[in-house]
Amino acid sequence: MRWDLGFAAASFWALVVLSEVSSLPVTSTEKCGLRPAVEFKTKPRIVGGHDAQIGAWPWQVSLQVYRFGTGYHHVCGGSLINNDSVLTAAHCIMKWRDPHFWRVVLGLHDLYNHNTYTVKSLVRAILVHFNFKNESYDNDIALMKLQTSVIFSDRIQPICISSSPRLITLETPCFISGWGSEKEKGKAKYILQEAQVNVIPPKVCNRYDWYAGAVTWNMLCAGSEGGEVDSCQGDSGGPLMCYFPNEKKFYLIGITSYGVGCGRPKFPGVYVRISHYRNWINTRAIFSRTTTVSIQHFLIVLTVEWVTFHFVLERENLFFRCIEIILDCSLNVFIFLAKKFI
Ligand code: ARG
Repeated sequence: MRWDLGFAAASFWALVVLSEVSSLPVTSTEKCGLRPAVEFKTKPRIVGGHDAQIGAWPWQVSLQVYRFGTGYHHVCGGSLINNDSVLTAAHCIMKWRDPHFWRVVLGLHDLYNHNTYTVKSLVRAILVHFNFKNESYDNDIALMKLQTSVIFSDRIQPICISSSPRLITLETPCFISGWGSEKEKGKAKYILQEAQVNVIPPKVCNRYDWYAGAVTWNMLCAGSEGGEVDSCQGDSGGPLMCYFPNEKKFYLIGITSYGVGCGRPKFPGVYVRISHYRNWINTRAIFSRTTTVSIQHFLIVLTVEWVTFHFVLERENLFFRCIEIILDCSLNVFIFLAKKFI
């Protein structure tokens, strides 16, 4: 192979490899959905919520906003999905779009009692779904990038996000958790609460005397028919998660989004259907990696093309060779951009 073609081929493969690195799924290389601090036993159904065990939901975080005079206060929940990304609800962010307002508290059990396991992180960026609809709460999803990557521990773990659709049956144990109110117009809880819920089919949830069609395909209903179990104000952004015994892992299935009141019969909690947002999540969760990859990529392409160009001019001085290389370079950049944005 001639040396200039060699360079062109090398630059092409460098591109292919780099583009692949940048499209790795969120949790491909990391362990997820495990709770080292507790042993999982399928318990009888829980009516209403109760205190969670310490370390039971190590991906559950508290999203807090700073207020002058009173300091940080809990606004919403969130789920850790890798060491620097937290998923939450878009409606939690709308009043405070600037990342500077926020902090994320991880490894927390008692909202007002931080200990050595607790990690607090500031927020580097907030990415709200571009199609979030304030009226219908469609696409109620946002991603927060932490300023520093966290180190996982018994109390801090990421939850899994499935790369393919998962079958949830009535036997699949699914849970919600959060520091939200224990009843409509009730007070927020200090100790993390958990409850087991049923995922309710959209057909049932959209009946005329239930949500009457307001629940879109991007949403999921969960709770119980009679409303005994539900999330409430302050739980938003937190996880709806299911346990898959074959893998012994928890997967994020939904994000707490809205409900009519709390715990009312026929008005169960409505959650963001995570399976519809896999691509959105994957491309955003690698946000930081992608930007560094594109800088690396740019530098590599630049160097390779410069060296090629230089040698061609010096040794052969062939105008057409240069044109060929410039075309090759633009083609590479085009393929790269196409992979990134389409
Ligand atoms: N929108 C609420 C929040 O901001 C969550 C409400 C959930 N309501 C329900 N009935 N499940 O915290």
